[in-house]
Amino acid sequence: MAIPVIAIDGPSASGKGTVAALVAQKLGYHYLDSGALYRLTAVAAQLQNVAVDDETSLAQIALDLDVVFAGQQILLDGNDVSDALRSEAAGVGASKIAVLAKVRAALLDRQHAFRQAPGLVADGRDMGSVVFPDAQLKIFLTASAEERSQRRYKQLIEKGISANLADLLNDLRDRDARDSARTVAPLRQEDDAILLDTTEIGIADAVNFVLKNYELAA
Ligand code: C5P
Repeated sequence: MAIPVIAIDGPSASGKGTVAALVAQKLGYHYLDSGALYRLTAVAAQLQNVAVDDETSLAQIALDLDVVFAGQQILLDGNDVSDALRSEAAGVGASKIAVLAKVRAALLDRQHAFRQAPGLVADGRDMGSVVFPDAQLKIFLTASAEERSQRRYKQLIEKGISANLADLLNDLRDRDARDSARTVAPLRQEDDAILLDTTEIGIADAVNFVLKNYELAA
């Protein structure tokens, strides 16, 4: 039998990464944060002064990424880039290069390699539609743009980083629009994905929802 996959897709700051990592922990499964691969490509491109529309060079950078996922740390060419990856700039850069078909194709094998026994929980935009279309369970995890921007605002303030709520809401809406409107692997709820709206529920309930549906799908 194929190694099981739980695919969790959804927009920025919906909490899908937190939920996916906790589900993976509870099940003892591997975890793929596919957004980190797009962020890494954007950060590596910036370090090498490659333009965000140079598709061929960007795809080569994606293929050549020398990356190590070491717990909470992500190393690029041996350097800890975890903080740089979480910045808004890296997220915006990632969403710009993510529209390029060659970049997406270059990252495909790397994502498939995460599918290892006993199972995988993968989060992103196209986990259920493109990367793991045979996933045992597909969840579309979302929340209202207002709630997502509030959450991001709180996170930044807690880290001591100054932020403006209206700007964050605008950035999120721009990013949603770019992710949903692109022709390659757009962000959308697939017919076979179960909707999980976390606007009014907390992380623990969201994790239980996924686990319960996984049991039902088995
Ligand atoms: O999930 P995260 O916010 O880290 O993703 C950053 C950007 O990478 C997204 O806005 C999206 O454009 C892109 N992405 C993607 N496909 C994925 C994961 C992320 O296009 N599977």
